[in-house]
Amino acid sequence: MKRIAILLSGRGSNFKAIYEAINSGFIKDAEISVVISDKKEAKGLEFARDNGLNAIFVNPKDFGDRKGYDLELVKILKNANVDIICLAGFMRIISEEFVNAFENKIINIHPSLLPSFPGLNAQKQALEYGVKFTGCTVHFVDAKVDNGPIILQAVVEVKQDDTVETLSDRILKYEHKIYPMAVKLLVEDKIKVEGRKVIIFD
Ligand code: GRF
Repeated sequence: MKRIAILLSGRGSNFKAIYEAINSGFIKDAEISVVISDKKEAKGLEFARDNGLNAIFVNPKDFGDRKGYDLELVKILKNANVDIICLAGFMRIISEEFVNAFENKIINIHPSLLPSFPGLNAQKQALEYGVKFTGCTVHFVDAKVDNGPIILQAVVEVKQDDTVETLSDRILKYEHKIYPMAVKLLVEDKIKVEGRKVIIFD
């Protein structure tokens, strides 16, 4: 049984997609061991609690700096003995200490085709740039923002009359497909990392 941790700050729709993929049997032999949020009111945290999961709010204000906060997360995640850590709308930059504690175990979803449009408001960046296609990316997390080796991507068309909302909604549907797929590959040990390259095998 692989043990999964979810880190989130808000709505938690990607967390729900992973949760449902486990419940439906799409992802087998895995469980969500802990859900952590840096925001007390995060809807995702509420959903976790309502569904009987181990849901923990860790308040950044209780820690002097990023390193202190991250070391607390490392402690919780080590105690929970997790195998995979999914950042799912977790709005904090992860320190090197955190990344190094879980090499190739932390993954993230980003709403663009990386390396295009890293950072905040990726959908708005894509619209303003005028690209005809954008998408979403699941990648390993390293110490740089939205930078680690790419596991899966989905391409999404940008329509002429798109707003940030309509484009974000279209991308989100694909996020909910590729994030559970990437988790499934990791759970089944079908992923190998060689430098920047992620090799997927049967
Ligand atoms: C998603 O767009 C994800 O790509 C980005 O943050 C958003 C989180 O949405 N990293 P949700 O909380 O999973 O609904």
